Formats: sequence, C-alpha cells, structure tokens
Amino acid sequence: MYTNFKMVFVLLAAGILTIFLVAVSCLVLYARWNYGKLEKMGIPIVKPHFLLGSTYDLFKKAPPVQDVEWFNKMGGIFGVYEGRDPQLFICDPELIRLITVKDSQYFDAKRRLEFNDPMLNEMPDFLPGEKWRVVRSTATPAFSSSKIKLMNMPMIEATQDFIRDIDENMKTSKTPEKLEKVAVDELLCAMLTDLVIRSCFSIKIGDRFNQNNPYHKLVRDLMSPPALKYPSIVSWTYTFPFLLKLLPGTLLSPPAGKDFVQVFKGIMEQRRKSGQKFNDVVDLCNEWQDKLGTEEMKKHNVTENTIMCEALIFFWVGQDQMSTIMSTMFYHLAKNPEIEKKLLKELSIVFEKNNGVVDHEHLSELPYLLSCIKEASRLHPYFYRTERVCTKPWKNEQFGLNIPKGMTIQIPIWAANRHPDYFEEPEKFMPERFMPENKDKLHPYALSTFGFGPRKCPGERFAMETMHLVSAYLLKDLKFELRADSELKFKPVGPWMFAPHEPVYMDLLKREKKS
Ligand code: HEM
Repeated sequence: MYTNFKMVFVLLAAGILTIFLVAVSCLVLYARWNYGKLEKMGIPIVKPHFLLGSTYDLFKKAPPVQDVEWFNKMGGIFGVYEGRDPQLFICDPELIRLITVKDSQYFDAKRRLEFNDPMLNEMPDFLPGEKWRVVRSTATPAFSSSKIKLMNMPMIEATQDFIRDIDENMKTSKTPEKLEKVAVDELLCAMLTDLVIRSCFSIKIGDRFNQNNPYHKLVRDLMSPPALKYPSIVSWTYTFPFLLKLLPGTLLSPPAGKDFVQVFKGIMEQRRKSGQKFNDVVDLCNEWQDKLGTEEMKKHNVTENTIMCEALIFFWVGQDQMSTIMSTMFYHLAKNPEIEKKLLKELSIVFEKNNGVVDHEHLSELPYLLSCIKEASRLHPYFYRTERVCTKPWKNEQFGLNIPKGMTIQIPIWAANRHPDYFEEPEKFMPERFMPENKDKLHPYALSTFGFGPRKCPGERFAMETMHLVSAYLLKDLKFELRADSELKFKPVGPWMFAPHEPVYMDLLKREKKS
C-alpha cells in the first residue's frame, strides 16, 4: 500500500514537473522566436536579454535618452528587440523620406495597440488601414487654414486673459511684480487647456488658474495610467503581450477617458439643444454622429467610441506637447540672453508696427520666433518615437536593406533630430538653423517632430500657430527668469510614446513697458 502510494506520488510529481518544464520551454521558445532576424539583416543591434529582448531594463533611463545613446553608438540604422518584436530603428533623413513618403504604400500601418478600453482602442494612430482613412478624412477638415484663422481670436483672448491672471497673482504675491518658483510647463499646460477648449469647443472654463479645475485634472489624470507605477512589469508585456490584459492601463488612463466622454457628451447635447453652430469640433462631432448609420461608417465599424476618441484627441493631445516645447524654449532663451535680445527686438518691431495686435496675418513677420520654436521642438520633441509597420516586403540597394512584411520600423525622433551630419553641435540651442536664409543647408526630412507623409501629425498647423501666437504675446509681456533649481530633467517613465519632464521651475517677471 505504501509502495503504491509512493509510486503514484512519484508519477504525479514527474507529470507535474514535465508539464512545468514543457510550459517553461514553450514560453522561452515563444519569447526568443524572433531572435536572429535582425542579425541576418547585417545591421548593428542592441544585444537582447535571454528572455526579454533589448528592452529588458526599460525606463532605467528616459527612453529618448536611451535612443540617443544607441544612435551615438551604432549610427543611423540599427536593430532593437522590443521584447520579442524585432524592430528597425532609422535616423537617416533620406531613409525616413523613403519609408514615410516615397514608398509609404509599403509602410502604411502602425502596430495595433491594446489600451484595454473600447474607447481608447479607437486611437487613430493605431486604427487598421481602411478605417484609419475614413477617420482621418472626417477629422482633418477641423484644422483647415480657414478654421485655424477663425480660431485666432479665441487663442489671443485666452492668452491675454492668462496674462491678466498672472498680473493679478503678481499683485498679491510676496514679491510684487514677480512670481517665484513657477512650474512653467504646468502653468502653460493649464492655459493651453483653456485655449484649446475655447478654440475647439467654443466654451470658456471658469477658474482657469486653479490646477484643481476639473478640466486640468482630466489632462493630468489621462497622463497618469496606473500601470506606469510598475515599469518592470510593463517591460514583460513586450515579450508576453497577454499580460497587458491583467494590467490596469499602461498607455493612457481608462477612467479619465470615461470622465471625458461623460463631459463631452454633455457638451454635444447642449449644442444640439441650443441649435447654434460654431463650425468647431463640437459641430464636427455632431455631424459625424448623424452619419453613423451610413453604409460607409457601418462597414468600417465607426461607432460613437470612434467619435469620442477623436474628440478626446482634440481636447487633450496638444497641451502637454506644446507646453513642453514652449517651456523648453523659455528655458533656453533665459540661458542665452543674446538670442533672447534678438527675439525681443523682432517682437517689439512687429507689435509696434501693428498697434499691439499680432494675429495670423502677421506671423510671417516673426521668422526668428518661429525658428526658436522649431529649435525647441527639435531638442525636446515630446513624442520620442513614431513608427510604421511594413505591409509589403521592401528592398533598397542604396541602404542595403531587405525589410520583411510585418517588421516594425521605429523613427526615434529625439535621436533623428540630433543627427550631427544635419545639425551641427546638435545639443546646442541654435535657432539660426531654421532661419529662411539657411533653408538650403537644412535637409527637409531632418526635423521629425511632427512626422512625415500620409500619417504625419494632422495637428501640426494648429500646434505651430498656437505656439507662435501664444509665445509672441507671452514674451512681449513676461520675462521667464532662471533660478538655481531650474532644469530640464526628463521623467524616466511617461505614458505611451511621450517624454514629459519634471516641472521646469522659473521666476516670472513683468517686462518693463516702453513709455
Ligand atoms: C506640439 C504638438 C504636437 C506634436 C509634437 C505632435 C507630434 C505628433 C507625431 C510625431 C505624430 C506621429 C506622426 C507620424 O507617425 O508620422 C503625431 C500623430 C498624430 N497627432 Fe500630433 N502632435 C502635436 C499636436 C497635435 C494636435 C494639436 C493634434 C490635434 C488634435 C494632434 C493629433 C494627432 C493625431 C490624430 C495623430 C495620428 C495621425 C495618424 O496616424 O493619422 N497632434 N503627432
């Protein structure tokens, strides 16, 4: 009896051990399945970990900083195993042109990402081909040049109200005419939230300066997906994507997405009831909703979730990017008084000539300001990567590349924007590079901040116009001064492909008005 029991126990233990060993072997085989594919392409690669690809120590460094280090070590073309996914990283502007523009029909997809939420899963970047085309063509008219011109007035009003708010706060501050230790990026993000809501949704929010305002809270919450607290688990999901289903949200925060939907549905409803038309994003979404029953929308499974996700992008996608770029510019201007002086001269001439009002019509008279914005967007483009997926095998002799169908191509924007062959002294803030007289020296595909080709950022014109206008008014009236603790320090962990920085603290002063 005892011997039989022992036998059963041994057999059971052996069975469990075998199942365990087979399961572990299968997992290891699965994790390493694609290893060797990049090596076969004859490109330098970032050596992969036994199990977790080249990205096993994800977020030990801020990802854009890591990309720049890889680029400096391996050059403009190299390979990275993102978990089990073999990816080609490209920083060479000519290759970027071929892939995103000239041969874009070979690379007309991005990876399908799983946000663990039906609304966030409609994020246009990651929609499949035909559906993406329908969504993109419906949303693009929101940023036509005539619409952007119409938005000028609310943009200027929001900036002037903001300056007035600052003035009021200065009057009651400990040090008159000065606000000390202001987190410039957070302040700008709040004012841009107000600006976006005025120009895209045609409504004004109360209590704009208060960081606890529900709209500011929504923006902050969206950027804080809960899973970011566990970066090492996130790196495991690259090798074992099914783990994503167990995480509370790795890319954006689903509960904040739900809060937004509730608010925005109310705004759409109110607009319908009022019968008013403002030719803005709310009208666009209402018109879109009326078309949901059409064959085309049904065929591509365009639903209310698709519309809500698009509205969410209009509401939120620009503020953090624009405030990061603008606070970066203000920081560099404060560090480079000669550049700041030249810029202030340009501004004072244009404001004086136009009786203190600058709008769309006058922006072409501010090329140095535009160059400063482009240079800040080169150094700190916020989006640290964008990607394309190869949908048809692509061969190119010039670069000796043979890209198989299914491979992900990453454009590490930070690294590409620092290519020393195209940007002399790449870490230096040198707006002159973008001045019209230096146009011939600049490769048209060297600055990747907004991407290129059919999938480039549709919000570029809106974002550039906003930053151009807002910076003109802010710099005319306010001085951003460095403090001992002012620094541009990037958070090691950000949601999605974003590289937010720690608060940029500066002192804010009123500029002396010429009498
Ligand atoms: C400074 C501000 C901004 C920066 C730096 C930025 C950057 C980018 C980048 C790099 C991409 C990927 C492009 C590519 O793959 O080639 C992108 C895509 C996108 N951006 Fe922006 N963006 C900004 C503002 C905006 C704004 C204000 C909107 C508008 C609502 C917007 C909407 C989008 C959308 C919808 C996509 C996906 C495009 C697609 O796949 O069809 N962005 N953006």
